[in-house]
Amino acid sequence: MKRIFSGIQPTGEIHLGNYVGAIRNWVELTKEYDCIFCVVDYHAITVDYPIEELKKRTVETALILIACGLTPEKCRVFVQSHVPEHTELAWIFNCVTPIGELERMTQFKDKSKQHRANINMGLMGYPVLQASDILIYKAGFVPVGEDQVQHVELSREVARKFNARFGEIFPEPKALLSIAPKILGVDGAAKMSKTLNNYIGILEDEKAMWEKLRTAVTDVNRVRRADPGNPEVCNIYTIHRAFSDNQVLLDVDKGCRTAGIGCIDCKKLLFKNLSEELAPIRDRAFSLMKDTDYVIDVIQKSACDCSAIAKETMKEVRSALGLLTI
Ligand code: TYM
Repeated sequence: MKRIFSGIQPTGEIHLGNYVGAIRNWVELTKEYDCIFCVVDYHAITVDYPIEELKKRTVETALILIACGLTPEKCRVFVQSHVPEHTELAWIFNCVTPIGELERMTQFKDKSKQHRANINMGLMGYPVLQASDILIYKAGFVPVGEDQVQHVELSREVARKFNARFGEIFPEPKALLSIAPKILGVDGAAKMSKTLNNYIGILEDEKAMWEKLRTAVTDVNRVRRADPGNPEVCNIYTIHRAFSDNQVLLDVDKGCRTAGIGCIDCKKLLFKNLSEELAPIRDRAFSLMKDTDYVIDVIQKSACDCSAIAKETMKEVRSALGLLTI
C-alpha cells in the first residue's frame, strides 16, 4: 500500500481553505493509502506566536482532524515534535539543499515581508523540515493545497540530491491536489488564511458563518442585482464547487450569467450545503473537546508508530552518511 504524508500547522482555527483544499481530500485518501497526518508544531514556531497558546492549539488541531474523519481506525494523526527524528533528518537535508533554492520559495518571500523583524533561519529552512517530514516516512504522495506545491517540488529535489550523493534511499514524492486547491478569502482577493483574517472557520457557529458569507466579495463587476455575473471569477462559486452537487452548480452558473439569481440567493444555497456538511463535524469536535484524553491517546499511539518508522529510516541514513555508530 502506497504511503501518504501531509501536515497542517497548529495556528488555531482550521478554515474552509484547509478543509476543502486538504483535509477533506485526506479523509478520502485514507480509503486507498497508508496515511500519516501531522500537526507540524515545529513549523509553527518559525514566526512569533503566543507561547501559552501552543499546547491548546496543537491539541485542538489534532482534535479537528479527528472530528473531520481522520480517526485512528483509518490513519495516524500525530504531533511533529513527538518524533524528533524529523528535525535530525532536516539537519542532514540542510547539507544538500542549495540556499538559492530556499531563497526563491514564494512562501519564504511572503513571510519575510510579513515578519521583517524576525527573518530567521527556521523561516528559510522551513521547506527543508517539510521535506524531512515527508521523506522520513518515504511517502510517495503528498496531498496539499496549491500553495504547498512548490515545497513538495523542493522535497523532490532534496531527495534527488541526497540520493545522488549518498545512495538511493528516498522516493521522489508527488503532490496531490484536491478539487479545490485554492480557496480565496472572504475579501475575494487573497488566499483564505488565518494570517490575513479573511477566513471562515469550520467550527464557527452558523450565525457567524452566515454573516461572513453574506458580506463576502463576489464578482466585483456585478454591481446591481440585474447585472449578469461571471461565476469563473467569483470566489463564492469556487466554494460552491466544493460543496454543491452538479444540478445546483448548473443552476447557479446559468442564473448568475443571466442575472436570474442574485448573489444573496446564491450564498443562501451555499450556506445550506456548507452547514449540512459541517454540522456533524462541529458536533463531533465539541464532544471531543470534553474528552481531550482520547485525543492525547490517539496522538500518543500514532507518534509511537511513526517513531518506529522514522527510526528505521534514520538507521539507513546514518549508515549511508558514514557516521560512526556505537
Ligand atoms: P498549512 O497549515 O498552511 O495548511 C494546511 C493545508 O491546507 C491547505 N490550504 C489551502 N488550500 C486551499 N485554499 C486555501 N486557502 C488554503 N490554505 C491552506 C495547504 O495547502 C495545506 O495543504 N507547510 C505546510 C504544512 C506542512 C506539510 C508538511 C504539508 C509541514 N510539513 C509535509 C505537507 C507535507 C503548511 O503550512 O500548511
